[in-house]
Amino acid sequence: MATSTAPGKIYLFGEHAVVYGEPAIPCAIEQRARVTVEERRGSGLRIQADDLTLDGFTVEYTGDTAGTPDVDVPESLIEAAMGYVDEAVTQAREAAGVPDAGFDVSIESELPLGAGLGSSAAVVVAAIDAATRELGTVLSREAVAERAYQVEYAVQDGQASRADTYCSAVGGAVRVAGDETTRIGTPALPIIIGYDGGAGDTGELVAGVRHLREQHSFAAETIATIGDVTRRGEEALRAGDLATVGTLMNFNHGLLSALGVSSRSLSSMVWAARDAGALGAKLTGAGGSGCIVALDETDQAQTALEFTPAVEKTFRAALADTGVERDP
Ligand code: PMV
Repeated sequence: MATSTAPGKIYLFGEHAVVYGEPAIPCAIEQRARVTVEERRGSGLRIQADDLTLDGFTVEYTGDTAGTPDVDVPESLIEAAMGYVDEAVTQAREAAGVPDAGFDVSIESELPLGAGLGSSAAVVVAAIDAATRELGTVLSREAVAERAYQVEYAVQDGQASRADTYCSAVGGAVRVAGDETTRIGTPALPIIIGYDGGAGDTGELVAGVRHLREQHSFAAETIATIGDVTRRGEEALRAGDLATVGTLMNFNHGLLSALGVSSRSLSSMVWAARDAGALGAKLTGAGGSGCIVALDETDQAQTALEFTPAVEKTFRAALADTGVERDP
């Protein structure tokens, strides 16, 4: 039996624009997915999951995802979760050279699904690491990141950036632009998350931005400007200038709003945090619904979010310096 954990992430800068080759800066947080893998007889795969903001489910199938699970949660979420784990296990079998290994997989996650905290990437990264260890192969974090990217690429029909998977595998704050990935040093970041209890449909939101970009040159310019904001944000991070990082996060949120990916609940959380004195606040991830990230050294933004009707949950998140790791 092998267990690995991998962190979720927030985007400090650059989501959506990263799809068009602009840089993005995601940052790993100490909310983790934990995946336990045990080799089993035969070539099947049995997956059990708790706490994916689903009620928990168990599915058993062999080979492909054709079997219909008998559980009372939205089919699309189950199929998505199963698709990711199925591909992750395929990558692990290939990496270890054991093409028909069977597994029992159990997943626990502190990361809500589809809320912009990189839950699927964290599950995939931890699953690849645990499954390869179970088969006697230890991959470097970089190798896990590459295979996890291949999983997202396959499951999301080629609509994936390296941002989530790389950040979850190596930890820290990272700069991702196309195929280039590097870790960047940051000061301690006073991260507050606000979560509205909902989920955004990443594929639909990415398609919406693509459509706008095709229709209007100002949308293409907005995307390029997000790239500029991200480059300035990277300089401010490297200089430890949190006030400028906050201002640029506000700017980034405005540009994402212009691209149509914010929402009433995300905006109300962003404004609650700003009104309470946060250095900056923006949505994180694909948008639509889900999470915002704010920077605040005091307790005021978190307290304000606790009293904001749109908020389901708010918490302080520590930067996860270590990416995927074996759970002792
Ligand atoms: O909401 P998430 O964590 O799936 O983030 C999506 C980020 C996008 O830039 C919108 C898409 C991508 O693959 O980079």
